[in-house]
Amino acid sequence: MNRCVVYTRGGLPADVLAVVEESEPAAPETGQVLVRTTAFPVHPGDLQAVEAYTGNAGQPVHAGIEATGVVAAIGPSTPVAAGVEIGARVTVFPHPGAWSQWIMAAARAVVAVPEQLSDEVAAQMLVNPITSVMLRREAEEHDSIGYDGVLLQTAAGSSVGRLLTAACLAHDISLVNVVRSERGAAKLRERFPDVPVVATEHPGWADEIDRVADGNPVCVALDPIGGKLAERLLDLLAPGGKLVCYGQMAEEPISLPASTLLQKSLTLRGKTIGRWMSETSAERQASDVAAAKLIAIALADQFDVAATYGLGDMAEAVKQAVRPGKIGTVLIRPW
Ligand SMILES: NC(=O)c1ccc[n+]([C@@H]2O[C@H](COP(=O)([O-])OP(=O)(O)OC[C@H]3O[C@@H](n4cnc5c(N)ncnc54)[C@H](OP(=O)(O)O)[C@@H]3O)[C@@H](O)[C@H]2O)c1
Repeated sequence: MNRCVVYTRGGLPADVLAVVEESEPAAPETGQVLVRTTAFPVHPGDLQAVEAYTGNAGQPVHAGIEATGVVAAIGPSTPVAAGVEIGARVTVFPHPGAWSQWIMAAARAVVAVPEQLSDEVAAQMLVNPITSVMLRREAEEHDSIGYDGVLLQTAAGSSVGRLLTAACLAHDISLVNVVRSERGAAKLRERFPDVPVVATEHPGWADEIDRVADGNPVCVALDPIGGKLAERLLDLLAPGGKLVCYGQMAEEPISLPASTLLQKSLTLRGKTIGRWMSETSAERQASDVAAAKLIAIALADQFDVAATYGLGDMAEAVKQAVRPGKIGTVLIRPW
């Protein structure tokens, strides 16, 4: 049998996700790789997709997008990436329906896992590292980043935020991290003592950003929250600055007078890994996947696991995935 996680209507993931048994996939056809999964991550984006689902066809939708496992079979005459062979450890992304004991993946989505990586890191090897690569590239498109300009990122204690922080340190990019609580700020300072952290729970947080920027222009802000926080970030940006939105955690919209954009000639940009998949050339995608593997090897200790659950505990797992103050990614071990 193949136990997998599905939903038939949108809503709170803890309420609408169900584990069902389906028959095991048959042998792979050309272009396909059969993977027996060993772990998969519960990303915030996976849960947002469940909440936002508006379909009502009654057909189960399979949840998840990334998983790690072992190759069980490869379709005849199927071209595969280096290292992908029967018995090899692989990570699969993108694969809609990755939260499953068995995955019949498109061969192009199957990436070999470097030997030295644990299953815990391998399960997070693609989505978040690729996102961090995509965001750093977007930030560096601004002439000042890497020179005199300051990069700001919110939700900086997130899994993506920690990878970006480490990347900025490695590439000598001046960064100010922003989190919502002093508790989160203290944890981040402990991990990255050389990167200033500002907590928005303090009323003077915007002035504190000016202070730590030390007269240098805040040129780019990376923000997965939106809403009122994004409005404040636009106020903080220097003329010619750019706000990059890559998530939608705030419930309220970003509301701003046109003059905010006009007077400082600001740019507002949205980035998602979904558009990375549809808009980025195959060569660039391959290069970003290679970079993601290197990030996973070099920064393995930044791939914290918040908690690990079995398929029987999906409701608790999805609650833990959005619990304030948790650090790291929630993983599921499906067997
Ligand atoms: N665009 C894309 O393709 C893409 C790809 C990957 C991730 N993302 C987005 O990036 C974000 C981070 O993902 P992740 O997997 O790294 O997350 P994560 O590890 O689960 O961390 C979530 C972080 O968000 C913070 N947070 C949650 N709600 C908040 C709020 N209302 N205001 C301020 N901070 C809040 C939490 O802070 P506390 O520590 O205070 O709880 C925590 O640090 C998510 O929004 C996700 O959707 C987007």
